[in-house]
Amino acid sequence: MTPQKEAVITVDGASGTGKGTVSQLLAKRLRWKLLDSGALYRVLALAAQKHSVALDNEKALNVLAEHLDVQFIAQENNLTRIILEGEDVTEIIRTEKIGNAASIVAALPAVRAALLSRQRAFRDKPGLVADGRDMGTVVFPDAELKIFLQATPEERAMRRYNQLKERGISVTLGDLIEELRERDKRDQERIVAPLKPAEDAICIDTNHLTIEQVVERILFEIKRKKAFPATLHLEINPILVEAAE
Ligand code: DC
Repeated sequence: MTPQKEAVITVDGASGTGKGTVSQLLAKRLRWKLLDSGALYRVLALAAQKHSVALDNEKALNVLAEHLDVQFIAQENNLTRIILEGEDVTEIIRTEKIGNAASIVAALPAVRAALLSRQRAFRDKPGLVADGRDMGTVVFPDAELKIFLQATPEERAMRRYNQLKERGISVTLGDLIEELRERDKRDQERIVAPLKPAEDAICIDTNHLTIEQVVERILFEIKRKKAFPATLHLEINPILVEAAE
């Protein structure tokens, strides 16, 4: 008999759909593990920069990805510190520049292949929330619940604009929309593991929803599925679910 695999919920979607925050909150509510797969591609892009590897040198990037010395250290406050070659890179990898570089290296088949087993190794007790672009289609095709978050480029750019403004970083909304469209195009049109919902994914339009509404809606789907016995006790706020349906 093959051993029972740990439960997985996948949360996929384009940049700025809120999937990072949603996945974090979901993992916290469920007390499950979290995989931020985008962070892996971001760390690889940073490592490439550090070791002067060109973003189109697939062979060298494959070697770098296979030997990537990265640690994800879960903290008490539910945040994860990311350590590359002994250096804390948690904040540095969040810039637009590294995000774009990550999207470029992520289009290379050899890079995706090298990072596959690393991502699957996050599957652990009592369950995993996996956040990314191809979690439901490629990395965990057998996940019990697959979510795909959507929002227009304008809405996503606006969210990003507000985040950056809060941090005192000045950008124009027009530039952000342009960058998002470019990144979407690359993520959707690449040959391997393009950004798209799995056939059995539940698509949620987040345009007019708060993060809390999206989280409650997903918790509602979790309960409805009855696939995760350990989560049946979860309290769900029906008002938030109704708004998100
Ligand atoms: O989610 P994010 O913005 O941190 O991801 C950065 C880039 O990494 C994104 O533009 C595409 C790529 N990525 C990917 O190709 N597959 C994933 N599962 C996650 C991210």
